[in-house]
Amino acid sequence: AQSTAASAGQRALEVIVEGLRRLEYRGYDSAGIAVVGADGIAMRKKSGKLVKLLEELALHPLPAATAGIGHTRWATHGGPTDANAHPHVVGGGSLAVVHNGIIENYSGLKADLLERGHSFASETDSEVAATLLGEIYASLGADGGDADGAADGPVAGGGRLASAMRLVGQQLDGAFTLVATHVAEPGVVVAARRNSPLVVGLGDGENFLGSDVSGFIDYTRRAVELGQNQVVSITGTSVEITDFYGTPAQGREYLVDWDSAAAEKGGYPSFMEKEINDQPDAVAQTLLGRTNGEGVLTLDELRVDPSVLKSINRIIVLACGTSAYAGQVARYAIEHWCRIPTEVELSHEFRYRDPIVDERTLVVSISQSGETMDTLMAVRYAKEQGAVTVSICNTNGSTIPRESDAVLYTHAGPEIAVASTKAFLAQITATYLLGLYLAQLRGNLFQGQIKDILAELAKTPAKIARVLENAEQVKELARSMAETRTVLFLGRHVGYPVAMEGALKLKELAYIHAEGFAAGELKHGPIALIEEGQPVIVVVPSPRGRDSLHAKVVSNIQEVRARGAKTIVIAEEGDESVREHAEHVFYIPETSTLLAPLLATVPLQIFALELATAKGYDVDQPRNLAKSVTVE
Ligand code: G6P
Repeated sequence: AQSTAASAGQRALEVIVEGLRRLEYRGYDSAGIAVVGADGIAMRKKSGKLVKLLEELALHPLPAATAGIGHTRWATHGGPTDANAHPHVVGGGSLAVVHNGIIENYSGLKADLLERGHSFASETDSEVAATLLGEIYASLGADGGDADGAADGPVAGGGRLASAMRLVGQQLDGAFTLVATHVAEPGVVVAARRNSPLVVGLGDGENFLGSDVSGFIDYTRRAVELGQNQVVSITGTSVEITDFYGTPAQGREYLVDWDSAAAEKGGYPSFMEKEINDQPDAVAQTLLGRTNGEGVLTLDELRVDPSVLKSINRIIVLACGTSAYAGQVARYAIEHWCRIPTEVELSHEFRYRDPIVDERTLVVSISQSGETMDTLMAVRYAKEQGAVTVSICNTNGSTIPRESDAVLYTHAGPEIAVASTKAFLAQITATYLLGLYLAQLRGNLFQGQIKDILAELAKTPAKIARVLENAEQVKELARSMAETRTVLFLGRHVGYPVAMEGALKLKELAYIHAEGFAAGELKHGPIALIEEGQPVIVVVPSPRGRDSLHAKVVSNIQEVRARGAKTIVIAEEGDESVREHAEHVFYIPETSTLLAPLLATVPLQIFALELATAKGYDVDQPRNLAKSVTVE
């Protein structure tokens, strides 16, 4: 995740440090900064979290500069060492480069470069790209044309560094955002992108680049999204965009609809805690402005011809991680309301199984960041097969919505903690809106029914707030379980993905082994895990729900309890029947079966947060994870 600044003043360093602080959630294996000072390129980099780099900078300060680049890393090729950290300085100290992504043809390129006499200080694919850029730069004439003065320069868009970057872009396979600065062009920063995120920030006498807008949100809310295979060259006063062949291109400008305060902890000890507490708002904002006065859904932003949506005969939901669990919840609702066969698949599995997709398939991708490479590739594949693609996304200007036929934004606000919380509830809300909209279009539900469900949805933010207010009991239990080594989660129907999400949160935050099972599946295997004292958390559906779901789950609680499990139950207020079977009961407000995940998830999030905090872990940046995984 890089952060880059080019400004008229001398504050590049300060801007980059602040940018890296904001972007650290994207990866925190190492961090580094390079600036072009009076004496050439000055660079510092350190393995470990950003704080290590800041310590290094305090000991060995960098000079003031008008332009520079910075990077925080999530290791792919080469471990998280100082040498593998970015920037990579090449060309005899003349060029500094940072990279995100994976360069797939790096080994061939590296062999060629070694043959031509280059050597490498790191094990990274990134240094190969940097070295290639340095070599090409050296071969170009001062105007950006060939060294031999051939007639192809000067080229549009930036100077010599930009020309070299375009030629590098043409030679690389895979995913990359490359950002570079050169001693001979102080005040200029050049970047190239393919399949990896990069946004431009437009300031007043200063311009910025970042993997996402949080990298420069302190300085400007004006952003420009870049397309595939583009090179951008910025100075304090100019932004020039071209493709890899020098043809000028125009990026879409947009205004970020949140400010830097939204990306602060707001008095909470962690982003995770803040974001859990943001959830009433996240759901309310996602519902906002999506109906007309008469309770008719008007998803204007969903620019797909209604006749196309009417002709859909199949839905495939694609996502990873927490977003995939939101998809699993959505399936129950969408199939029930729309009677369209719906499947949910992990993005990275979908593409490789030769799936059946055609023009009547609606592919709904769910991604908080809009940049998850696995999901992006799956969406591209589905598009190539002719599918109609709709993205549910929380990040304006990101790649997946841009490449989809339509997008329905979740308005959860920036989610900074690496493990997802408020985005999950907002995603469920948005997929429900989509499901109801399809049902409305296709006449599967009466308008009155849709109105009732929307009215019920509108009540959830206040109910989530009540769950948050009554969290003390959950926290107390979590603290008492800090030494627990394994926890099982059970649920049925929509409670099943909720159970899996509860288990995922516990793994991510507290590094405790946890599994979510379909309660009915228990007797077919997992029940063998139950022994005296094994904690089992059960998501119990409303006793007012259909199909004796409730009774079945209560039987499952009894089955594990009979074998010594310590049962912890999430149930609906007024459900006294569970008390006798549970050591602990946490109540959530009444709601319909399909909407219950919006409430039942919250105590599970709080449980994981509190337990991880009790163990002294960093809940915002759990080990080994990154928020936005832009490699496959
Ligand atoms: C990463 C994050 C998860 C997230 C998943 C999908 O693995 O650590 O928290 O759920 O990516 O991210 P997306 O941005 O596509 O929703």
